[in-house]
Amino acid sequence: MGLLRLVLLGLAATGAEGAACDPVDSCPQLSDGLYCPVNDVTEHADINRDVALIKSYLAEDPMNYAMAKEVYTMGNFSSKGAGNMRTLQDLALKDMTVSGKYTNVFYSGALSLYGSISAIWHDYIIACLDNTGMCKDKSDSFRQYVINKALIGVVTGYATYEFGAAVWKGANGETADGQAAYAWDEGAAFYIGNIAPVVGDGITGGAPGNLYSPYEFNWKRDFDYPDGTNTHAEAVKILNYGLINLRGAAYNGDNVKAAELGMYKIFSIAAIRSAIKYADKAYNGGTMEPKYLAEGWAYWRSASGYMSTFNTTTVEMVDAIFDLNQTSIPADAACKVKTLVESLYPQLGITCAMVGKWKDATAGGCLDSVCDDTGNSATLLSGSDAYVDMCKATTTSTTGASDASAGLPGAMPAVGTLAAVTAMICQ
Ligand SMILES: *[C@@H]1O[C@H](CO)[C@@H](O)[C@H](O)[C@H]1NC(C)=O
Ligand SMILES: *[C@@H]1O[C@H](CO)[C@@H](O)[C@H](O)[C@H]1NC(C)=O
Ligand SMILES: *[C@@H]1O[C@H](CO)[C@@H](O)[C@H](O)[C@H]1NC(C)=O
Repeated sequence: MGLLRLVLLGLAATGAEGAACDPVDSCPQLSDGLYCPVNDVTEHADINRDVALIKSYLAEDPMNYAMAKEVYTMGNFSSKGAGNMRTLQDLALKDMTVSGKYTNVFYSGALSLYGSISAIWHDYIIACLDNTGMCKDKSDSFRQYVINKALIGVVTGYATYEFGAAVWKGANGETADGQAAYAWDEGAAFYIGNIAPVVGDGITGGAPGNLYSPYEFNWKRDFDYPDGTNTHAEAVKILNYGLINLRGAAYNGDNVKAAELGMYKIFSIAAIRSAIKYADKAYNGGTMEPKYLAEGWAYWRSASGYMSTFNTTTVEMVDAIFDLNQTSIPADAACKVKTLVESLYPQLGITCAMVGKWKDATAGGCLDSVCDDTGNSATLLSGSDAYVDMCKATTTSTTGASDASAGLPGAMPAVGTLAAVTAMICQ
């Protein structure tokens, strides 16, 4: 009896239907310190620690591919309870519609573009871990970049799985906090992660460089495109808005769908900015830099499947520019990428102004301009400055957000000295 009770308590704490916080209104926050989950999603956020751990094994000299593979296939930080680990491999191979139950155009677009679940990320990750297939005899840095950056794409994709689950559950009347809101919280946890930033408050200034989450990837591109939309900060507001609209009597399915679409736009902007930047860096003035080809390939691919639902031809043309088998990159690669991606903006519901201009564009070159938004009045959901009041125990001296019911204190970053310092740490 006592044992059974313990087992049941254990299941309740880690099971699929809700992970209430203890105390119930004291939910642990994520790296940003502003999204307030209504469930304890610590273990979900911890998958980003596996991304960090793999990166650290691949930073050893010599690179430790064997241990990196062990973390990818067996997990390390993220427990599902009862001794089961959540693994990045499981995330990469997930059927994100659960046999068509959930709608997830982000994922189904990738599936239809690349042909199978494993062809999206897993096959590449394994080939580079094992030195086989497309990765055979490639340089260590190329293999490292394919693996590290592909994992960011894996986690990005998985966040969309949770958003899709939340949308479905909400529409199915499952609006208790342990139901649709739990899926949404998980999506936020996968996206943001929960590693404490080494510098800064987790949202303003430059990216700390140690989060290893999709959120931090987006943040780095925000730093690269300083006049464009500050996507990582906007994402937090959109996530809070989604959560508010999933809870009980406040449920509003249209608003939840709008939040999901807002996140798709943010993921698209990050992929687009990366494609422009890394096509140029891969060309490298005529001497191809393979690791930047790998980086451009992976970051573009993090949302290419979704974008292909608007125009497959265009996306396939960009894919060809990032073909990993290339041994040289044409001088006009980045210009071509820019023109191709810009043709997608109206249908994606984003604008030239949102994407902005890459700060390192060669003066007077094709990248040194922001395209024309005439006829395109697309907007990004502004989300919510207010957030739920379920993170009471969490006080962080850096954000001053000890009162979780307060609005966002200055979500727009002041790109200053801190940004300059972190720019040297993180690419
Ligand atoms: C996680 O990795 C660390 C090394 O970074 C290792 O000591 C530990 O045993 C691993 N834990 C699991 C559960 O794999
Ligand atoms: C790249 O090369 C690998 C190994 O030679 C091959 O299996 C793959 O089909 C090639 N991919 C493309 C896009 O050409
Ligand atoms: C799709 O993109 C291609 C190449 O960019 C373009 O020629 C074509 O008109 C586009 N199709 C639609 C339906 O927008």
